[in-house]
Amino acid sequence: MSLQLTVIVPTFNEIENIEEITKRLHATLEGVNWEVVFVDDDSSDGTAQRAKQLAQNDARVRCIKRIGRRGLSSACVEGMLASSAPYLAVMDADLQHDETILPQMLYALQNDGVDLAVGTRYMQGGGVGEWDESRKNSSQLATVISQKLLGVTLRDPMSGFFMIKREAFDRCVYRLSNMGFKILLDIVVSSPTKLSFKEIPFHFRQRLAGESKLDQRVIWDYFLMLIDKTIGQYIPTKLISFACIGAMGVVVHLTVLGIALQFFQQPFTVAQSAAVILAMVFNFNLNNILTYRDQKLTGWKFWTGLLKFMLACSIGALANVGVASVIYKDYGYWVFSGLAGVLVGVVWNYVATSLVVWPKKINK
Ligand code: GDD
Ligand code: MN
Repeated sequence: MSLQLTVIVPTFNEIENIEEITKRLHATLEGVNWEVVFVDDDSSDGTAQRAKQLAQNDARVRCIKRIGRRGLSSACVEGMLASSAPYLAVMDADLQHDETILPQMLYALQNDGVDLAVGTRYMQGGGVGEWDESRKNSSQLATVISQKLLGVTLRDPMSGFFMIKREAFDRCVYRLSNMGFKILLDIVVSSPTKLSFKEIPFHFRQRLAGESKLDQRVIWDYFLMLIDKTIGQYIPTKLISFACIGAMGVVVHLTVLGIALQFFQQPFTVAQSAAVILAMVFNFNLNNILTYRDQKLTGWKFWTGLLKFMLACSIGALANVGVASVIYKDYGYWVFSGLAGVLVGVVWNYVATSLVVWPKKINK
């Protein structure tokens, strides 16, 4: 029997869950010709080694170890691209997804003729289990936004548990945003033709071992993906992210400027300089965490990066203070003067830092 199904399991520090999930797949997929592909982003706990150990004696197990990269969506995509099976499933490693519905999903694709089968929490027979109120609410909010803004009709587009025909996946792979956590939503929205689907309820279980990797940053990733899927074809998303953070930097800038002028009675040039420096530190941090999270600078590189960021921006900052001071001297409106300086600075910052601080790695 030729290979029918590849189950792609993205992993990041999931060493304790690898064996158990493989065992359960064996039990539930009896009679199917399947394989599991763990896609690990160089976990520090040795997840990839454990998976490869298993693979030595179990031909159904494979492992792709990625280095220098992070990301749930991109890991899933690489796993799917590495499969030769006609059906592809994506499932978390931590056993929160109920593997016993995999046969129903496969049945739906093989016999009901749909492109996609989705494990759904928000329908009769499904549920989110023991989630706290805030997680419940944010999941619901993200769902409603995607339904309204992107016209998604799935009841649970945030689900990370689904099975898709490889040909349907291949049709949309070039258009994927590949950002963040929401791979199912990405696929559904990126598909050139509307995907037919069947929803299958399941109860979201408690994590078996290890910790969740979902943190506050997924909100930003989600926001960027929404932008990418709406206006992203016109403007690069990294630039949008940089500009949004720049806009927050403006708030920091004006706050500092206002305080320095009003409360500390500093001369304008001194106040504007202080505002520039603080806004720069703020922007560097946020861009490092959000815009360039896939190239995030840590440890020693964080500090040299900050230094480079400040040096690269110093020309922009000089122009910023210069322009702002001149305008302030002539017209006297501090908000307007401050903003004009910032505008000059922002253009410099983006171009210079994208070249010097977070240079694009050359992909061969
Ligand atoms: N390779 C790789 N790289 N895997 C990752 C990464 C990464 O950067 N981040 C997380 N993973 C893996 C985890 O190891 C786990 O197997 C799976 O992706 C899901 O991560 P969790 O940290 O367990 O996420 P969650 O349980 O909070 O969120 C899940 O449920 C959400 C539903 O609200 C995910 O399935 C989400 O996609 C889903 O939206
Ligand atoms: Mn989980």
